[in-house]
Amino acid sequence: KKEIFILAVESSCDDTSAAVFKNEHKLSNIVSTQEIHEIYGGVVPELASRAHQQNIVPVIDQALKKAGITLQDLDAVAFTKGPGLMGSLLVANSFIKSLSLSLNIPLIGVNHMQGHLLAHFIKDENQENSPDFPFLGVTISGGHTQLVKVTNHFEMEVIGETLDDAIGEAFDKCGKMFGLPYPAGPEIDQLAKEGNPKKFVFAKPQVKNLDFSFSGLKTSVLYFLQREIKKNPDFIKENLNDLCASFQYTAVKILTDKIKKASQQTQIKTIAIGGGVSANSGIREKLKEDAEKRDWNVFIPPFEYCTDNAAMIAIVAYFKYKYSYFSDLTSIAQARFKI
Ligand code: KG4
Ligand code: ZN
Repeated sequence: KKEIFILAVESSCDDTSAAVFKNEHKLSNIVSTQEIHEIYGGVVPELASRAHQQNIVPVIDQALKKAGITLQDLDAVAFTKGPGLMGSLLVANSFIKSLSLSLNIPLIGVNHMQGHLLAHFIKDENQENSPDFPFLGVTISGGHTQLVKVTNHFEMEVIGETLDDAIGEAFDKCGKMFGLPYPAGPEIDQLAKEGNPKKFVFAKPQVKNLDFSFSGLKTSVLYFLQREIKKNPDFIKENLNDLCASFQYTAVKILTDKIKKASQQTQIKTIAIGGGVSANSGIREKLKEDAEKRDWNVFIPPFEYCTDNAAMIAIVAYFKYKYSYFSDLTSIAQARFKI
């Protein structure tokens, strides 16, 4: 069969998403972001599962409608098997397994982190080029910070990751200290544009190899603020732009230093970035600079495919379909799930 229609659902964290693909082409990608977590300043797992339960049917309905097909046209269904929040994962897992059973079509379990890495291969009007193998995959989001050597569609090796907080978590937690609403990443990015990145110096951790640590940076910001606020209660208000710029400068430096090191070690000059934090303009500028200096080929997908979405699950499912890498109904959700 030449045209394969796949429905994929992603529910690993706080976004409920469904996508329909015709081969590697995106026909639809619907994302319902859960607003409920904002007032808690972070994702509340129990509330996330409940919201997925409410969202999953309307989101799938919309995805099918937008794609202009019905359930009967589908050749396979896919879900995110892990990693993620167990209660959240279970929603897509149970739903898609039932759908596979009732439609009598193949079931495909997908690793969320592979989704971030292969999102570069989704074809649509905004993304035509994809990286050549092997490439260095960099996944940076609120939940992950990973450097991965990607040899082909199925062969991937994690060569560095965070030992504590994810980079997006550092943006969100430091933003909270600066009095910004959750998630603070985009606002830090905006405020940093008007600030001096060299005004304050924050600690850069000494982590071996290609691994990362971002909790030290967070603590360094915390102690610094506590000291300064004692002297001047309005310190944050008066220095907000410089604080954001200096924090962002340090976080970007920690990240890009390791990318450089990884590129040198692996001799790979194709760098493919993904995850919500890749929206950050500081990271984009620095990478552009490094790319020119070092002759790198840098890929960043459209923002729609950087944040959590089902399109990235569908593209992995399509590659798996081609090789008949199917799951069966005993396939369980896995909160911890290696690439
Ligand atoms: O990929 P994502 O939507 O969700 C997961 O964590 O999986 O990423 C969300 C993260 C949040 O931490 C948010 O603050 C961060 O991405 N983020 C940014 C920017 N836009 C989103 N961080 C820095 N600068 C941005 N422009
Ligand atoms: Zn993610």
